[in-house]
Amino acid sequence: MARKRDRARIAVFVSGGGTNLQALIDAQKTGQIPNGRIVLVVSNKKDAYALTRAKEAGIPALTITKKQCGSAEAFEEALKEAVKEYMVDLIVLAGFLAILSENFTKDYPERIINIHPSLIPSFCGEGYYGLRVHEEALARGVKVTGATVHYVNEIPDGGEIIIQKAVNINNKDTAESLQRKVMEQAEWKILPEAVQKVAKIITKSRQG
Ligand code: GRF
Repeated sequence: MARKRDRARIAVFVSGGGTNLQALIDAQKTGQIPNGRIVLVVSNKKDAYALTRAKEAGIPALTITKKQCGSAEAFEEALKEAVKEYMVDLIVLAGFLAILSENFTKDYPERIINIHPSLIPSFCGEGYYGLRVHEEALARGVKVTGATVHYVNEIPDGGEIIIQKAVNINNKDTAESLQRKVMEQAEWKILPEAVQKVAKIITKSRQG
């Protein structure tokens, strides 16, 4: 087990069901993220099931919504305050359905990562989330799709790629079955792997 200061403090930003958050919680429990620790979950939707998952795992959770904050700027400021208060080293966007502006991303270079349910640069960018990603993959007739974990910068889904994993499509797949397959075969595997990889880089950079 790594000492406390050898572990990056992680915040997971969510909006929905939180199955990727759950994959991280489970990976943490089984020792697959030795260089990181989830210290905070932030949801921009007050009824996100991910909040229940955080609670059950004993992880502090906050709800910060644009509506509550009054503007996109105030929303990002509130997120920054939470990040500061919990001394967060790494932000993981795990199904976080709000686009963060450059004003936010510029403050955390190589300290924000995102999971996207396709092989970037296919089926990504603004508006590509949820079932639409899989519907478009099926409509285009690709035979292989997958998931990507990448660093987040000011371009939606445009930051450097960290890990990708491919998933085969068969002719019986629907958008729903494909969404499930991509999660099970790719997302829930590569997200914990990428988080450990980046957490290790962060803790190493502190020591050196
Ligand atoms: C996942 O498909 C993820 O790739 C995307 O949003 C979905 C979130 O699912 N960014 P969950 O909330 O983790 O279950």
